[in-house]
Amino acid sequence: MFLRILATLSIYLVFTNAYEVDTYEFLMPNVWPHRDELYLCTPIRISPQTNYYIVGFEPNASMHTAHHMLLYGCSEPGSNDSVWSCGEMQSNEIDDMYNTASPCRSGSQIVYAWARDAPSLHLPKDVGFLIGKDSPIKYLVLQVHYMHGFPGGKTDNSGVFLKYTKKHMPRQAGVILLGTGGMVPPNGIEHMETACTVREDKVIHPFAFRTHTHALGKVVSGYVVRRKDSGDDWQLIGKKDPQLPQMFYPVVNDSPIGIDDVLAARCTMNNTNDFPVNIGATNKDEMCNFYLMYWVQNDSPLEQKYCFSAGPPFYYWHKAPLNFNRIPELEASTL
Ligand SMILES: *[C@@H]1O[C@H](CO)[C@@H](O)[C@H](O)[C@H]1NC(C)=O
Ligand SMILES: *[C@@H]1O[C@H](CO)[C@@H](O)[C@H](O)[C@H]1NC(C)=O
Ligand SMILES: *[C@@H]1O[C@H](CO)[C@@H](O)[C@H](O)[C@H]1NC(C)=O
Repeated sequence: MFLRILATLSIYLVFTNAYEVDTYEFLMPNVWPHRDELYLCTPIRISPQTNYYIVGFEPNASMHTAHHMLLYGCSEPGSNDSVWSCGEMQSNEIDDMYNTASPCRSGSQIVYAWARDAPSLHLPKDVGFLIGKDSPIKYLVLQVHYMHGFPGGKTDNSGVFLKYTKKHMPRQAGVILLGTGGMVPPNGIEHMETACTVREDKVIHPFAFRTHTHALGKVVSGYVVRRKDSGDDWQLIGKKDPQLPQMFYPVVNDSPIGIDDVLAARCTMNNTNDFPVNIGATNKDEMCNFYLMYWVQNDSPLEQKYCFSAGPPFYYWHKAPLNFNRIPELEASTL
C-alpha cells in the first residue's frame, strides 16, 4: 500500500490575497499505459487532522498523452494500490497489469475535470473545496484516460497541480451531477432529461458547469426552474456542445438557487445508427451528464451530489411528476 499524504508534502508557497497557498503536485507515479483506452487511477490520502481548501487546479498534462483527467473526492478510495485500472469500461474488462476498481469505494464526488486544451481553473475569490478533517472527502483520486498505449519503457506523469490553503474559506465549493439512464432509439433525435427539486435549505451560487456524453451528444443544457403561480420560469445555467473539450465553463447565469427551485438538464442525442444505444458503462454505450459547480456561503455543500432519472423512454420533462410548463423545447436543444 502506498499513499502519499498531502499534509507532509508542500512544494512551494505563494502569497495571494494575504494568505498562504501551497501547491501539491498530484501526478501519475510514472505509469506505463501499456494498451489503448486505459483509465488509470492514483490516490492521495488527506491528513484527517486538518482542514484544507483547494482553490485552484493547474493541469500538468499533454493532450498527446492524456485524453481527459478527472479528480474524484472519496470517503474511501476504490483500491489500496498506488495505481489501478478504473475506466468507465471497467465492468467488462480485466487488465493484465493493474487491478480493476472504481475510482471511489464510497462517498464519490467529482471535484475537477480536464480535457484537451482546457486551461487552469481558479475558483472565485474566497471559494474552496473543503477536504480533510471536517469534509467527507478523505481521499482524492486522480483518473487519467490514456487513449493510446505507450511503447515499452516510456512512462507518464500527467496530473494536476492542486493549489490549496489551510486558511478558512468562507465559501465552500460543491458539485452536483445531473444525468440519466435510458436508451436512445435508432435513426433519430432523442431527449434525455432529468430534474430534481432542491430539498435542502441552502442557497447555492452556481459558477461553472461541465457536460459529458459520448459520440451521439449534440447539445447538453442545464436549467434552474423557478416555480411560480404565473408559470415555470426556466433560467438557463449553461449549455454546450459535448463534442468540445469537456471542461468546466463559466455559467451564463449565476443567480442563486434555493430550496424548492428545480435543477434540470437535457442531453439532445442524434443516433445515426440503425440500432438503439443504451446508457451504460462501455464506450459503445452513451452517457448524459451535466455537472454543476457552485459555492455556498458559511455553509456546507448540498448533501445531494446526484440527480438522475430513468431517462427515455420512461422519463421526460413533459411527463415528469413535477408537472412542468413552459418547457423551452427549442432553446434547450440548440446552441
Ligand atoms: C509536469 O510537471 C513536471 C514538473 O513538476 C515537469 O517536469 C513535467 O514536464 C510536466 N509535464 C507536463 C506534461 O507538463
Ligand atoms: C484498504 O485497506 C483498509 C485497511 O486495511 C481496508 O479496511 C479496506 O477495506 C481496503 N480497501 C480496499 C478497497 O481494499
Ligand atoms: C443527425 O445526424 C444526421 C447525420 O449526420 C444529420 O443528417 C441530421 O441533420 C442530424 N439531425 C440533427 C437534428 O442534428
